[in-house]
Amino acid sequence: MKKEVIIICESIYHGNTIKLAKAIAFALDCEIVSPQEALLMDLSQYKIVGLGSGIYFTSHHPKIIEALNSLNSGQQAFIFSTHGSPFLGSYHDSIKEELVKRSISVIGEFSCKGFDCTGPFIIIKGGNKGRPNEKDEQKAIKFISRILPQYVKNLNDVPKGHFVHVNEDCIACGKCIVVCPMNVFAINDNKAKAVDELACTHCSLCLEACPNRAISIKHGFVDAIRIAKRHARKKSL
Ligand SMILES: Cc1cc2nc3c(=O)[nH]c(=O)nc-3n(C[C@H](O)[C@H](O)[C@H](O)COP(=O)(O)O)c2cc1C
Repeated sequence: MKKEVIIICESIYHGNTIKLAKAIAFALDCEIVSPQEALLMDLSQYKIVGLGSGIYFTSHHPKIIEALNSLNSGQQAFIFSTHGSPFLGSYHDSIKEELVKRSISVIGEFSCKGFDCTGPFIIIKGGNKGRPNEKDEQKAIKFISRILPQYVKNLNDVPKGHFVHVNEDCIACGKCIVVCPMNVFAINDNKAKAVDELACTHCSLCLEACPNRAISIKHGFVDAIRIAKRHARKKSL
């Protein structure tokens, strides 16, 4: 894991913003902590801090603002959020003001729509259904690749011919083995390994379960068709 970037995220409503945080953390190979955890940590080793939450009453969550107290002047920050309204408008202004006060420069900001049932959205049982979606996550990764290219891992580092790859960050905790319904993984030489890649359905439960984000799955259109064909005749697990 890179030790120069960390993400602080609060996602209290529908877990919308944590989806962006996870996508960005995957690209950066960095840790995500809550504001409470951040306040208990020494963050001086980090050059860059990502700050993300939903937008609640036109600004970031107060706990994110409070967590700014754990940062030091001279550090750099990127901001991200999800919001219910069609436009971001000035929702990032208050956090930016707080950062300026602390002499922390903002190197970039990103926001997208998030599922929201507040206010008039209740009439249609929620607005921005399914957001953030995979496209939003890809946009978040593009954003971070643009502002921090030096920290973004090679997202195409899955060896050719492999659908599922476990990298050197694996700590052999076995969570992928427990969660995988298709028994794709086994521990081999103190590392998890995809021993039955062809059984993989790309359900992505392992990606969620891996505490070190050491697993990558190649999601291509052709792979998706192959998976569908491979599992077409299955009648049960
Ligand atoms: C109490 C509350 C206040 C909100 N205020 C706003 C707002 O002022 N503007 C906006 O665009 N969305 C607002 N939203 C919608 C959230 O920003 C949106 O659903 C966001 O994706 C939630 O992120 P989360 O799931 O990570 O908490 C509000 C939601 C809640 C629950």
